[in-house]
Amino acid sequence: MLTPHGGILQDLIERDASIKSELLAETATLKSINLTDRQLCDLELILNGGFSPLTGFLNQADYESVVEHMRLASGQIWPIPITLDLFKHEAAEYQAGERVVLRDPRDDAPLAILTIEDLYVPDKAVESEKAFRGDPEHPAIRYLYDTAGDVYVGGDLQAIALPKHYDYTELRKTPSQLRSEFGYRHWDKVVAFQTRNPMHRAHRELTVRAARDKLASLLIHPVVGLTKPGDIDHHTRVKVYQEIIKKYPNGMAKLSLLPLAMRMAGDREAVWHAIIRKNYGATHFIVGRDHAGPGSNSKGVNFYGPYDAQVLVERFSNELEIEVVPFRMVTYLPDEDRYAPIDEVEDGTRTLNISGTELRKRLRDGSAIPEWFSYPEIVKILRTSHPPRPSQGFALYLSGLPNSGVDALSYALQATFNQFSGSRHITLLDADNISKDSLAFATGELVRSGAGVIIVNTKQVASLEEIANYKKVVSKSGSFILVSVETSKEDCIKNDRKGYLSVERSDVEAYSFPKEADIKVNFSKESINVGIQKIVLYLEEQGFFKF
Ligand code: ADX
Ligand code: MG
Repeated sequence: MLTPHGGILQDLIERDASIKSELLAETATLKSINLTDRQLCDLELILNGGFSPLTGFLNQADYESVVEHMRLASGQIWPIPITLDLFKHEAAEYQAGERVVLRDPRDDAPLAILTIEDLYVPDKAVESEKAFRGDPEHPAIRYLYDTAGDVYVGGDLQAIALPKHYDYTELRKTPSQLRSEFGYRHWDKVVAFQTRNPMHRAHRELTVRAARDKLASLLIHPVVGLTKPGDIDHHTRVKVYQEIIKKYPNGMAKLSLLPLAMRMAGDREAVWHAIIRKNYGATHFIVGRDHAGPGSNSKGVNFYGPYDAQVLVERFSNELEIEVVPFRMVTYLPDEDRYAPIDEVEDGTRTLNISGTELRKRLRDGSAIPEWFSYPEIVKILRTSHPPRPSQGFALYLSGLPNSGVDALSYALQATFNQFSGSRHITLLDADNISKDSLAFATGELVRSGAGVIIVNTKQVASLEEIANYKKVVSKSGSFILVSVETSKEDCIKNDRKGYLSVERSDVEAYSFPKEADIKVNFSKESINVGIQKIVLYLEEQGFFKF
């Protein structure tokens, strides 16, 4: 087995076990920092030795050296800044030399004591440019500007406990545990495979090839911390991994879950992944096509070249020690019914692929996913968590002025949908009665669980900005459909029996019909029945109703 990065495994939990009760007693005298989701992931890997040689969050000298040179100040390779960010007002409470408790905010458990070495203001523009290549749409750069605080706190940690997990606990092995397991299994050579996606036949093929070439065993080591926003959730993926692990020759592959917070930093991230796997006891590491790349930005420009990661790990190969196993794109050859890396395929040979986007489309519309692409057991798991449109929920937001007919439309739609929606629960929410944040959250949860939700404002009107915000939240859980009720203001005033429009109202003055509405109706010109017909036909066309 290789020695860990930097020479020894920094298993801080084991190192500090003997002083745990003193540390716990001391926590009563210290101020506390509640960690964010990303910081919790980073902390877990610092405490368990996955980030060896790190023993804490980077101080300014290490941080600047990592950003600039991909090395710690000591000269050791370390490509990703691991920093504890605070907002200015939080940081103002602390000074260098002070000790502070780091806590898991979910259960308030004390996890570690940090001895603050320095507090410093990072140059985020430099970090963006050097560490993540500068595109403002890069997920790590978005995080840096939208989520992270403006002050970093550096310093070493003393360990109290790892963050608690309640799912797949038996699959979450620490570096010490995997190293000892590889030891007693006599696995002298272990190829590790990183992934943040469901695994299909191409991935099995690639990993088996790597194991065969290197005469090694396999560690399937998927990330279950934080991956790219929008990725398939880890619960679905773990079920997939548990299924695919059965498809390897008996005893050849082991599954273990990695609580890493990915940065999607392509080539730099590949070097980081290799170091982490060395710490977990692997001797080899697979880097294939577009490793840890976030795909392309909104203009369709790729953040990284498909093999950039291979170039960078190759450049550091002497110092990394763990041997990288590179792969060109692995593709299906239908005429031979087998998979092969594209550089081993003769010109003119037919190849087939199903992209992630195409796979999601087939899940959505329920169309066939061929056996050459994946195993039926795995497709079944994906179809359960990603049901086709007729079983999916949706949110139908009715936007319009008071008295425009939105209220009549809303209850007419509810009755109509209930008449033919099958097992889908239909619910009607009056946005007037619920706070905006709760409404968006609750709608998302309902849509995720398969309900059809009609949302209507009868007395108030939402601004375009509020609608956009609402759409953003709900779209994370499912489909958001915007209906604009464009009844003329004069007619709304004519219908104003309840006096909603009898006074000057700034929200009504400012209201304009949303241009990007999916469906437009106008009850100055058409009946409620015509409105319903337009909406039902739209939903049918989108696949939500099957007749
Ligand atoms: S990653 O973000 O974790 O890298 P993913 O789960 O898609 O994403 O890929 C895991 C690993 O498999 C990476 O090393 C990637 O390069 C490799 N890989 C995935 N699919 C292919 C393929 N068809 N051909 C070659 N390599 C692949
Ligand atoms: Mg990929």
